[in-house]
Amino acid sequence: MRLRSITTDDRFEVADLIHASVNAWYQLRGLPRIFNGDPSLTTIFQDVYHAISPGCAMIAQSDTTGRIMGVCFYHPRQTHVGLGIMSVHPNYFRQGVGRALLQAVIDYADSNGYPSIRLTQSALNLDSFSLYNTAGFVPRCAYQDQFISVPAQGLNVQIPGIDRVRDARLEDIPSLTALELELSGVSRAEDYRFCIENPLGFMSLSVFENPAGEIDGFLGSSAHPASNLLGPGVCRTDEIAIALIGRELDRHRGRSPVFLVPVDRPGLVRQMYAWGAKNCELHFCQVRGAFEPFKGINLPTFVLETA
Ligand SMILES: CC(C)(COP(=O)(O)OP(=O)(O)OC[C@H]1O[C@@H](n2cnc3c(N)ncnc32)[C@H](O)[C@@H]1OP(=O)(O)O)[C@@H](O)C(=O)NCCC(=O)NCCS
Repeated sequence: MRLRSITTDDRFEVADLIHASVNAWYQLRGLPRIFNGDPSLTTIFQDVYHAISPGCAMIAQSDTTGRIMGVCFYHPRQTHVGLGIMSVHPNYFRQGVGRALLQAVIDYADSNGYPSIRLTQSALNLDSFSLYNTAGFVPRCAYQDQFISVPAQGLNVQIPGIDRVRDARLEDIPSLTALELELSGVSRAEDYRFCIENPLGFMSLSVFENPAGEIDGFLGSSAHPASNLLGPGVCRTDEIAIALIGRELDRHRGRSPVFLVPVDRPGLVRQMYAWGAKNCELHFCQVRGAFEPFKGINLPTFVLETA
């Protein structure tokens, strides 16, 4: 196989591959497919990351057929490299394609002096767990994926502090950067800018402002049919997380967005159950290299993930 960077000409073949790869992996294990609808929906990955980090995906291409065998998105940020979705075509599972793609990203991170690579990895997927674990990634935090079916008229719950939540503005970016650096040890101003400017039309970002006017938390969400998720976000307390989740859920009336809650925040988890949350999967924050334990609550996602 040949490894090369992604180009805009790869957009539909890559979308098709991601759709087929992820659905096949789950369906082979008797689990429901992840992506419904037309394979062109999964152009979301290339479209989002092309808007933020153009060309930052590694492609494995067959020497024989010229077809794309696998793809791995990566995101150089101020403090780390984020690893986005990794997919191998089912025809090439277990033939070393994932390993070759991952090694190329590790080589990129190491040769450019990044202290860590981070990703969000399914705890149900022993293939990807093993791929990352044998390459030196360490699971640092576990999340339960939950979804809530938001009624068309909204959740109809009282949420203390929701009046302190507002839409993020571009001038908030330095505060968001400082907050995530303090609480999670990473920063990524480009991602916040992307959510606030919303060039593709399906992202949003809320902030929680304390009485002194300081930002104590933020949470984004995505209303795309291939990615109806809350996140990314960080905040200082369970109460702030609840207010932010309540606000972002309200943007998704009539839908059932998924969000990842740290398993070690029982108060937050209990509140989500009280709102009708159901668990649908488990994920790990996986880090290769430097890691500082989270000082607050991290609410990751899969598009603009940081783990
Ligand atoms: C996960 C995925 C990317 C792996 O790609 P792949 O090309 O099949 O993986 P590889 O053939 O490179 O093998 C990965 C490594 O894991 C190892 N491995 C697999 N199962 C293992 C196990 N149970 N214990 C230990 N090691 C294991 C393999 O031996 C291999 O290591 P090696 O190179 O040292 O031999 C692929 O299954 C896929 O695309 N799945 C669907 C999409 C997906 O789940 N993406 C990940 C999202 S978190």
